[in-house]
Amino acid sequence: VIAFFQPKLLAGRKVVLTAGPTFEAIDPVRGITNSSSGKMGYALARACARAGAEVVLVSGPVALPAPVGVRRVAVQSALEMRDAVFANLSGASIFIGVAAVADYRPLKAAEHKVKKSGDTMQLTLTLNPDILAEVAALPEPPFCVGFAAESRELDTYAQGKRVAKRLPLLVGNLVQDGLGGDDNEVVLYDENGRYPLGRSSKAELAKRIVDHLAALLNGGAQ
Ligand code: CTP
Ligand code: CA
Repeated sequence: VIAFFQPKLLAGRKVVLTAGPTFEAIDPVRGITNSSSGKMGYALARACARAGAEVVLVSGPVALPAPVGVRRVAVQSALEMRDAVFANLSGASIFIGVAAVADYRPLKAAEHKVKKSGDTMQLTLTLNPDILAEVAALPEPPFCVGFAAESRELDTYAQGKRVAKRLPLLVGNLVQDGLGGDDNEVVLYDENGRYPLGRSSKAELAKRIVDHLAALLNGGAQ
């Protein structure tokens, strides 16, 4: 009954999100990845669907079911994630990058399992594309939301990333506050300032992030 009266803040809007880590192959049985449970991205995808949006969730490997009402596109690497994002971006008015994208990938994945040899080994890595920055740099970009998990100086790094990637909204948190758990403590950054949301469940934080982004998008006061 209560759900019936919830305002559908994103009705008629298409949202594309990235979530989870990426996995960059070294050889057929090994790879490089980031720590990410996918919980925050999945909670946000669910909150967007509940707010009435059409939701496409481009997800790296995580151990979570697809939220109800969300179309999930499963990917492994950053390059696959970028392809899946651009393949699904048409008609989207909101893009949210929650994924912990590996900044670098092995320059060349070995075709066969690499054999052990010697006391040390070297791996040459090459920079991955910045998916969020590429979407935000489109001629007519969707409303872009970024995430930043930092281990120190959150305000400086978070506002810096928001401005550098030209994002109207960025969600920051300290890694020690949220990684892997069901709760987190985040701060929203937009062009008007910072809005600490305090400690809460990822589901509750996702709802508040949707409220904030809908207010910015619809031009209303927060
Ligand atoms: N991001 C992305 N593609 C990448 C790297 C990051 O889309 N190759 C997105 C993330 O999903 C997140 C935001 O950019 O929304 C910030 O990611 P983060 O790793 O914090 O920032 P970087 O720009 O990669 O800077 P650094 O890792 O050096 O702090
Ligand atoms: Ca990074």
